[in-house]
Amino acid sequence: MKIIHFGKEMQQTAHALHGQGKRIGCVPTMGFLHAGHLSLVKLARERSDVVILTLFVNPTQFGPQEDLAKYPRNFERDAALCREAGVDILFAPEAPEMYAADASIYVVEEKLSRGLCGASRLGHFRGVCTVVAKLFNLCMPHVAVFGEKDAQQFRIIRRMTRDLNFPVEIVSGPTLREADGLAMSSRNTYLSADERQQALVLKRALDETARLFRAGWRDATALKTAMQKIITQAPAAKIDYIEIVDDETLEPVQTLRKPALVALAVFIGKTRLIDNIVLKA
Ligand code: PAJ
Repeated sequence: MKIIHFGKEMQQTAHALHGQGKRIGCVPTMGFLHAGHLSLVKLARERSDVVILTLFVNPTQFGPQEDLAKYPRNFERDAALCREAGVDILFAPEAPEMYAADASIYVVEEKLSRGLCGASRLGHFRGVCTVVAKLFNLCMPHVAVFGEKDAQQFRIIRRMTRDLNFPVEIVSGPTLREADGLAMSSRNTYLSADERQQALVLKRALDETARLFRAGWRDATALKTAMQKIITQAPAAKIDYIEIVDDETLEPVQTLRKPALVALAVFIGKTRLIDNIVLKA
């Protein structure tokens, strides 16, 4: 596995691979890798000749009160996991390599990013879109893989790729979970043993909603109330949002007729966790 730290070298390497007719698959991450990330590597592998995993804790997508400084990092462990997973190139630039001190151009999505995490994390998706656009320009992938765990992020990146004509196929992978149902996340390492147990209310609330939907419930308010009841049973839980939105437009829905995205963001103690499911008849 080749490790690249510099943008220019990444771009030259990608350019050379294009010259050799190789198909490039890219998996953007912020590191502290878990099986969820590695499942995306597998999907990229199936769709390309050369897999690039990018590891960059992107400062522009963190708010001033957020966890940029303490975001978990372990480069050696991540590199070993990448090697095991069959990653061909690990692209791990440092922040000054990615952003000029006077960088002044950003990519802003104006519709899908209004609600959900975009509403509670102002500027977050501007940072995500900007860095993903830059990673696409540096890695020149034919295909890029993102997790459904970050459902809004996936939809926004797909929209950006379409609207800005990136020649990249965007693929999503399902959410990988721990044995007890908790969605894998680098941020789970922040949870104490007790919080880790309480964090199960997210999945429990989503499962209950899926069950009620199958039983014929279609009213979003009633479904949200049922989820709220379950989540507030955990004393450490503080709800950021519980939303049911149209799966395409991400606009709130009142009555579920088309595929709907049920999305949760809940603080367990100080740790903000997200999870979601799609409901379709
Ligand atoms: P990060 O949180 O490291 O996630 C990297 C990729 O892994 C994302 O596409 C995310 O949706 C996916 N992922 C996370 N948890 C997952 C799980 N349990 N199962 C399957 N996939 C999972 O998302 C980011 O980084 C950043 O915003 C990034 C896109 C890299 C831009 O900086």
